[in-house]
Amino acid sequence: MLTYDMEKRGKIPRYDYLYRCIKADILEGRLKSGSRLPSKRALAEHIAVSVVTVENAYAQLGSEGYILSRPRSGYYVCPAEELPAPPVSVPAPSSAFLPRREEEKTEKKWKYDFASNRIDPSRFPFSVWSRLMRETLSIGGEELLRPSPFNGERALREAIADYLLRSRGISVPPERIVVGAGTEYLYGLIVQLLGRERVYAVEDPSYPKIAQVYRANGAAVTFVPMDGQGVRPDRLAATSAAVLHVSPSHQYPTGIVTGFTRRSELLAWAARREGYVIEDDYDSEFRLAGKPVQPMQALDTAGRVIYVNTFSRTLAPSMRISYMALPEGLMREFSEKLGFYACTVPVFEQLTLAKFIAEGYFERHLGRMRNIYRKKRDEAVCLFAGSGYPLEITAEDAGLHFLVRLQTDLPDEEVRRRAAERGVRLAFLSDFTAEAGGASHCIVVNYSGL
Ligand SMILES: Cc1ncc(COP(=O)(O)O)c(C=O)c1O
Repeated sequence: MLTYDMEKRGKIPRYDYLYRCIKADILEGRLKSGSRLPSKRALAEHIAVSVVTVENAYAQLGSEGYILSRPRSGYYVCPAEELPAPPVSVPAPSSAFLPRREEEKTEKKWKYDFASNRIDPSRFPFSVWSRLMRETLSIGGEELLRPSPFNGERALREAIADYLLRSRGISVPPERIVVGAGTEYLYGLIVQLLGRERVYAVEDPSYPKIAQVYRANGAAVTFVPMDGQGVRPDRLAATSAAVLHVSPSHQYPTGIVTGFTRRSELLAWAARREGYVIEDDYDSEFRLAGKPVQPMQALDTAGRVIYVNTFSRTLAPSMRISYMALPEGLMREFSEKLGFYACTVPVFEQLTLAKFIAEGYFERHLGRMRNIYRKKRDEAVCLFAGSGYPLEITAEDAGLHFLVRLQTDLPDEEVRRRAAERGVRLAFLSDFTAEAGGASHCIVVNYSGL
């Protein structure tokens, strides 16, 4: 039976101390993978705490992936390859960005960095990934050395198609999926497919690379303001755009969720214009509350939506693996016009990711990360709410950031400077807006990498 001296816990709450003791025993190998933990009641009696204390400690261990519960059997230590990596210092991923302030990408050590839009690197499933990579290498043999089809390995496209149906209600055959090295690469392919003579409408504010990539590919970009429901249809109709790039499930950085009526209006606009909607579903996996939002792709009956998503947020930005699902007509055009391009993602990585998704590790990883990010979000919200400054917190349920509106007359640059002096790195909504002065005094708090 596990025996811990609860008197040694000092000021730490009982459940937290118990959780830490069991976690240490698992990580240091004293509790072996697969071994059964005592029942909540038996352990509670043994170490003289309440059953609720043990229940909370087990729940915490479960949410972080150290133990799992088997119905009518009990609690078990997770298999070794599925345990979270012990805390190691992993270098920050390179995708951390702060628009318009590239020069700040220095190695400065921040006390709090709320500007980097990155993942929690200590949670990457290294052991499962390395086992699946070894399996891929040993089973794949010479097959691994042949070139990938232009739109990616069939096994990966099948795994993605099944995942999209299960998790997003999108029904798309693997033949209509194109795999590429990052969504920013796919944006470039989309311009080549739809034509650079069309005008591309982009949400204002938005992820700055979207407009940068369209412009770098020779297309004209127009920015469309948003209201609480997403892109404003009246302002969109007043432009000459024939392509609209949106993130309706959860817009980055505003966190706005586009409701059903607005989605239908935008689809009607695309049909009238004989244009297309590019649905960028970035961050949709991390809606932390409320019902999942049905993608526009699943509502589209006219073949006007290109669905784009990435593994940068769900696994790691350094993986550079993304995909898009094209309507039937566009897929035909893509293979005729652009099928000469080689797929930009290495076969080894594609097949490893295919196994990772097909064997259920991806969705388990997402579940674990949702719990971890929920906890980080709560801590970050408390930090701001308890700061004593007059402010308002919004959009805290959607995606891995929230907004903090400051009641101040100070310009954003001055607030940024004063925060930096105290070791706090901030990004502002105004960093993401096209129209100068569009949205002052609003901090975009990225908490996932904290
Ligand atoms: C809306 C949006 N799409 C895509 C990305 C990044 O995608 P990738 O790393 O696949 O290029 C980001 C990154 O912040 C984003 O904000």
